Amino acid sequence: MKTNTATLIDNRTGKHYEFDILEATRGPSVVDISTFYKKTGMFTYDVGYTSTASCTSSITFIDGEKGELRYRGIDIKKLAKEHTYLENCYLLLNGSMPNADELKRFDLELRHRSFIDEDLKRLISTFPDSAHPMSILSSGVSALSSFYFEHLNMHNIQECQDMARRIIAKIPTLAAFAYRKSLGIPFIYPDIDRSFTENFLYMLRAYPGGKMKRGMDGEEEIKPIEIKALDTIFTLHADHEQNASTTVVRNVASTGAHPYVAISSGIAALWGRAHGGANESVIAQLEMIGSVENIGKYIAKAKDPNDEFRLMGFGHRVYKNFDPRAEVLKELQDELKEELNLDSNLMAIASKIEEIALSDEYFIERKLYPNVDFYSGVILSALKIEKSMFTPIFVIGRTVGWIAHLLEFRVDSSSKIARPRQLYRGE
Ligand code: CMC
Repeated sequence: MKTNTATLIDNRTGKHYEFDILEATRGPSVVDISTFYKKTGMFTYDVGYTSTASCTSSITFIDGEKGELRYRGIDIKKLAKEHTYLENCYLLLNGSMPNADELKRFDLELRHRSFIDEDLKRLISTFPDSAHPMSILSSGVSALSSFYFEHLNMHNIQECQDMARRIIAKIPTLAAFAYRKSLGIPFIYPDIDRSFTENFLYMLRAYPGGKMKRGMDGEEEIKPIEIKALDTIFTLHADHEQNASTTVVRNVASTGAHPYVAISSGIAALWGRAHGGANESVIAQLEMIGSVENIGKYIAKAKDPNDEFRLMGFGHRVYKNFDPRAEVLKELQDELKEELNLDSNLMAIASKIEEIALSDEYFIERKLYPNVDFYSGVILSALKIEKSMFTPIFVIGRTVGWIAHLLEFRVDSSSKIARPRQLYRGE
């Protein structure tokens, strides 16, 4: 008998069905059930895909039990501490770190591609001032497909690369324009003399004419530590294997839709507070709790099975020990405490919640630990960024991951249109 198979016995009939086991290079092997229906006449049932691998991938690996995250085989802590976001983008897109020359070319190309069409700018102007930046961003990215429609030829490698680098370069500009529109203030064009991350902060903060705010001590330049903090946040969000929004991007791409429309769908999926929208909700929740004295009441609500209230920034489908991204950010938060004047009231509430939850039986039993979004909000607030921009910042970081998965899907000869089955219980 072959050993690399699994046998299913239908106890109703005693029939045996054999399925191949495919070995992974890291993490769990999978049972190949692609012939399941053909062999058994039944479907498999897995709501929320908790045990289902939907593709083969070699981009990102997570071991949720060990709290491990790797991009292209390299540990996230090393990547976040020793490399910039642009180096990590290059790594995710190309499979290896760039040399100095490749990095310079990549950086220059992104700077030169950072502008958006004036008609797209006009489209953004038509949104109401009160619109959430995520809604403008998702629409803006979908509209981008109208401006670059010719890039539907996904069999041409050069066009694919152009398509990928174009959207990575333009996402910060679209996000910054979405933000300024939501405040009703004039747009600031990208500055090609500034690095990717610095330029984004500049487009958020600058006054017309590209001037920075005047403080009592003169012009308030963007501090290197602010750039480092945001760059680290971008890196930590750059990819996370088959999460909800990446799965949406792959599924939309599987129909042959334009890549930018697929990315726009990913942005929509990310907005929900169970996913990327949690970072905005964490700060909104800390503000609502208001003071350390009120925490007990909210912890009790989070534990009450009859109350829908959840502690935002806690829990994860995959991490059941700790979220390594959260560890990096916690260290960064401590580093920045003095230098960036982190909001001491918010920090005090957050630290107390963390302390209580980590020692509470309810959270321990369910393996609910602080996730990346629990810490990112406090840091982003210290960068004077409005909470409505927290999820767009997640989008900026994640765009490269979505694109890398989309490109991987397109060259995988085993890829199919995503089309799940159902357990029908209707009339
Ligand atoms: N507060 C209180 N209870 C919770 C929480 C929470 N944040 N998260 C899960 N639980 C409980 C849940 O009520 C359930 O309890 P019981 O077994 O008694 O019914 C149990 O833990 C398992 O929860 P689940 O909803 O089945 O777990 P899931 O894997 O489907 O959901 C999650 C994962 C992230 C959606 C969920 O933990 C959650 O809603 N967390 C808050 C939102 C959040 O922080 N999201 C950001 C995730 S990290 C960023 C990203 O990568 O997207």
